[in-house]
Amino acid sequence: MSVSYEVPAPELPAPAFPGHAAFRLARAATCAPSIHNTQPWLFVDAGGDRGFEVHADAARRLPLTDPAGREMVISCGAALFNARVAVRHLGFRPVVTPLPDPARPPFLARVRFGTHLPESREAMLMERAVTHRHTHRGPFGPEPVPWSLIEELRAHARAEGALLHTVDNPEKLRMLAQSVRAAESAHRADPGHVSEVSGWSGHARRSWLERVPHEAYRLNPDRLLLAGRDYAGLATECDGPSRRWTVRTGTVVVLSTPHDTRLDWLRAGQALQRVLLYAAVHGVVAAFHTQPLELPDSRAELRAGLTGERHPQLVLRLGHSARVRTSPRRPPAAVLHCGRPDRRSPARARWAPDRPGTGLGDCIEEVPGEELPAEEVSPAGPRDSRRGVTGGAEDG
Ligand SMILES: Cc1cc2nc3c(=O)[nH]c(=O)nc-3n(C[C@H](O)[C@H](O)[C@H](O)COP(=O)(O)O)c2cc1C
Repeated sequence: MSVSYEVPAPELPAPAFPGHAAFRLARAATCAPSIHNTQPWLFVDAGGDRGFEVHADAARRLPLTDPAGREMVISCGAALFNARVAVRHLGFRPVVTPLPDPARPPFLARVRFGTHLPESREAMLMERAVTHRHTHRGPFGPEPVPWSLIEELRAHARAEGALLHTVDNPEKLRMLAQSVRAAESAHRADPGHVSEVSGWSGHARRSWLERVPHEAYRLNPDRLLLAGRDYAGLATECDGPSRRWTVRTGTVVVLSTPHDTRLDWLRAGQALQRVLLYAAVHGVVAAFHTQPLELPDSRAELRAGLTGERHPQLVLRLGHSARVRTSPRRPPAAVLHCGRPDRRSPARARWAPDRPGTGLGDCIEEVPGEELPAEEVSPAGPRDSRRGVTGGAEDG
């Protein structure tokens, strides 16, 4: 897929006096997971009822790992979901317009406050999980994830337009493990890739607030059935073949979407975060193994072998762990901008995928009113002002 990128001078208005509510949304959004903790987002408090905008910061895209910006948009989708949770926590129904301006690809979503809606208990628990959810990178404890919880996680993914496939067939699990290992080996053998990954890890020369900290990856990544990212060259430092923790892999799942457009990536990110938060509420943490999805051939293989022609977006392990290591974030003030829409440009870098206008017509998402977090998703931007999908009116 050919993609063109331009990175002109920064044009966003400088961070300035955002509203209190926008600040709360930005604080929640920044807690989202992101590929290598790149935090590739910018938020705009448009003021009044114009809402809170989520933009991809394409200057933070990983050119070798993520040339199309797929993982960047997934990360922003996760941040968008956290913003939705924050709106629910403030007592309102979130109204989301995905991809509101086809002429500005990095402008990913607008979130507005809908009608008053008291926070449900489930929404409250998920809101609390926003700050204590973190990525796990080792083996899990012996306690299995209950099947009933997996079913609930599948329902949460479905509510966001994605599917969660469990990989429990030994043959398929072996195929996935081989694919992750082969992709990780290919990444390690590519000096450009190694340098890109280490540029975002503990030893990088960037601020400690925007990297994967050293403490988060202290185990030999090759001891897992699904190989981990070798953020610090630990695999090469360890002599000889390592004993594998094959029995402590946890439940392996793959999240997929029907298509592979920007809208699908945005949905995948929201589904991811909804699954992660709900899992966290139930004491379950996730490990990511997305390496094979970064190589077109291995992604195509996984698509054919695991997701029935749907597009695989994330590979996760789910399980219990007594200890999860945290990663820092840039403060909300560093990523939240204020401005009138006519005075700003959407993001610091222009990002132009080769598929213009990813079908605003197909962006309706079924979000049942009573399911968490209840919200309305506006199906279109400027040309279609209908609101919501479950009966339409904001006050319905
Ligand atoms: C799209 C995406 C892909 C990711 N892929 C990996 C991965 O392959 N290996 C890994 O260890 N972490 C992966 N992560 C997790 C990030 O490294 C993690 O979210 C980030 O370092 C912030 O840490 P936290 O999730 O603990 O807050 C991924 C996250 C996202 C959103």
